[in-house]
Amino acid sequence: MATIRDQFLTLNNGLNMQSLRFGTANLGDDTSKLQAIQNAVLAGYRHFDSASMYDTETQLGLIMNNSNIPRTDFFIATKLWNSDHGFEKTTSAFHKSLTNLKIDYLDLYMTHWPVTDLRLASWDAMIDLLDRGLVRSIGVSNYTIRHLQELLDHSDVVPIINQVEFSPFLFQEELLNFCKSKRIILEAYSPLSVGRKLNNQVLSEIGSEHNKTFAQIAIKWSLTLGNSIIPRKIEQSYSGK
Ligand SMILES: NC(=O)c1ccc[n+]([C@@H]2O[C@H](COP(=O)([O-])OP(=O)(O)OC[C@H]3O[C@@H](n4cnc5c(N)ncnc54)[C@H](OP(=O)(O)O)[C@@H]3O)[C@@H](O)[C@H]2O)c1
Repeated sequence: MATIRDQFLTLNNGLNMQSLRFGTANLGDDTSKLQAIQNAVLAGYRHFDSASMYDTETQLGLIMNNSNIPRTDFFIATKLWNSDHGFEKTTSAFHKSLTNLKIDYLDLYMTHWPVTDLRLASWDAMIDLLDRGLVRSIGVSNYTIRHLQELLDHSDVVPIINQVEFSPFLFQEELLNFCKSKRIILEAYSPLSVGRKLNNQVLSEIGSEHNKTFAQIAIKWSLTLGNSIIPRKIEQSYSGK
């Protein structure tokens, strides 16, 4: 049976990315991190979201490199932390992430936050990494329309993705429309509202009408808008129907 992990989005650089990727923030201690990532691979996930700040690159690399699954089946994304912005520091932080992951290229590198004054220099460093074939695509996270417009005025390389908090309870419609107009995928983080809205009446009612859970309704809602989405945990039974 086809699952939601068989759905792909085509990015503005021509690459394909699973609509539903596995987020690796806040997975607990090292053993829990390894277990969660291993379970995600067994469940069929190949596209993963990490960040140097999450401290999950080492565990993700370990599971991937020992999996006997070809590297090309994986789509590995990680992010530049705030204290590593600037041209030289971005380059060395990127190489540190590659070393942690024990791989020789990344599928996606993102700035984690739009750090004042330094973000454009960091973007230039990321373009340099792209030109050198060390990363296949570059993107941003937590950018508002102002940050995106500044970047587009500065550079011809359009980010493939803007990863932001987005859920039925934080519907950033203006940002979504701006991203769509520039062919930037909006990637929804905390799509399950970090489990804080499980008893919401409207979503519960929609869920019981369709025999679906809160999580399934929230995920479907975001995917229908054309977003990619990175929940930290998802029921394996979700078929995406
Ligand atoms: N770029 C950024 O700045 C940024 C910021 C935050 C997150 N992210 C990314 O987004 C990913 C996901 O975000 P998140 O972890 O904040 O939030 P999330 O996926 O919205 O929520 C995770 C929480 O929801 C609960 N949950 C998950 N599935 C559920 C289900 N089927 N039914 C009921 N509860 C469920 C989990 O419970 P349990 O604890 O029991 O598993 C957990 O507490 C992160 O792993 C990270 O990769 C990025």
